[in-house]
Amino acid sequence: MGRESPFTLRAGAAGLVLLALAMSAPVTLRDSQVEPQISLPLNLGLNDGTYAPQGAIDALQTFDSRTSLRNYSLPENDQLREVIAELDGVSADHVFLHNGSGPILKLCIPHIIRTQIKSSVGRVLKHLTSKSGYPIITGSFTYSKVPKKAMGLGLKVEMIPLDPDKGFAFDVDRLDATLRKGDGLVYITNPNNPTGNVLITRDQLIPLLERYPGSRFWIDEAYVQYADPAEHAYISSLVSRFPNLLVSRTFSFAYGMAAVRIGYLLTQPELVREFWRQLTDYRIGTLQERMAIGALRDEQHLPWLRETCAAQRKLLREGLAEIGGIESFDSVTNFVFARFTDGRTGKMLADKLEERQILIKALEPFGPYSYEPYFRITLGLEHENRYLLRNIAEVLGAPIPSVAG
Ligand SMILES: Cc1ncc(COP(=O)(O)O)c(C=O)c1O
Repeated sequence: MGRESPFTLRAGAAGLVLLALAMSAPVTLRDSQVEPQISLPLNLGLNDGTYAPQGAIDALQTFDSRTSLRNYSLPENDQLREVIAELDGVSADHVFLHNGSGPILKLCIPHIIRTQIKSSVGRVLKHLTSKSGYPIITGSFTYSKVPKKAMGLGLKVEMIPLDPDKGFAFDVDRLDATLRKGDGLVYITNPNNPTGNVLITRDQLIPLLERYPGSRFWIDEAYVQYADPAEHAYISSLVSRFPNLLVSRTFSFAYGMAAVRIGYLLTQPELVREFWRQLTDYRIGTLQERMAIGALRDEQHLPWLRETCAAQRKLLREGLAEIGGIESFDSVTNFVFARFTDGRTGKMLADKLEERQILIKALEPFGPYSYEPYFRITLGLEHENRYLLRNIAEVLGAPIPSVAG
């Protein structure tokens, strides 16, 4: 915390320059802009979104007296579930709410093991002998908490590699071939974390949902709202058509509300009821509920956010390219995935930045894969992104990129 940021010094110097300019020449808007302070530690490693919709903040501001927080919500948050259902093209009984989508992931995997493996003697035997009774099938770059949890519960994990030289495209034919050998739980983060690209389209998914009714397809749409629905049709509304499909969502990223902890799963009503029975009522309080409804009803937020993120991705990628020895990849999300091309490691960079209280994500080895050259950066606010670039350049001994000045 105590480390003096180079930025503070820059701002101080900029103040003197501005004073001199004010006395000698008319001040332009650009001259008068002083970048905001950086607040350390700066965490650009967890993907939390930056801006909440104004609609959520307006809702928050209605809780403005000592009695405004006194009431529970309705036990099943009917109002919020109705709004979600309307937007996602399902009915409210398909919507299960929880405190983030992370806790939903944790609930789902044991459930799938219980129901899918134990539903057939053949699967139980296969599971006991080779753990392959009902494997989890996923990409080789993925949100690793899910395969790790599945492995911890004794499931075999089958990974389909995503090739950086093919833009991390997902091999849908290979998934098809894997399922032909036997059913399993398919987990796809779409768009993908950490690669930032869309892995599967609605049109590619539908034939698989039809062909493999005994498999479960779990599409994690945690980052989907960053993708323009005009370019990528969301999967969510298919849930009412296909009982083997589950879709999870969260308010932590595109709605910038990680602090509020709300996520939801779209699935079959029986499963919604079963999960509900396992947990207590009133998990999502009135405050969270009204903020979430305010967020969803704010129609200006997502189009604006997509433009903002596109500009910040461009800034970061241009800066990384100028620093050199780094390749970054196309992303439709609020993070940029990159790798060193000259033998340096993502961990080396993450460690050096951490000494300066800046956190980014270096990938940990998983299964047979080592992801040593790779790192992932969450988009911050513009001045944070410039600050990050300046610090990356400094710790790597490279010139400060022009876009970071
Ligand atoms: C793909 C993906 N799904 C789910 C989550 C969990 O997010 P939350 O619990 O905040 O909803 C994360 C968090 O990083 C994620 O990257």
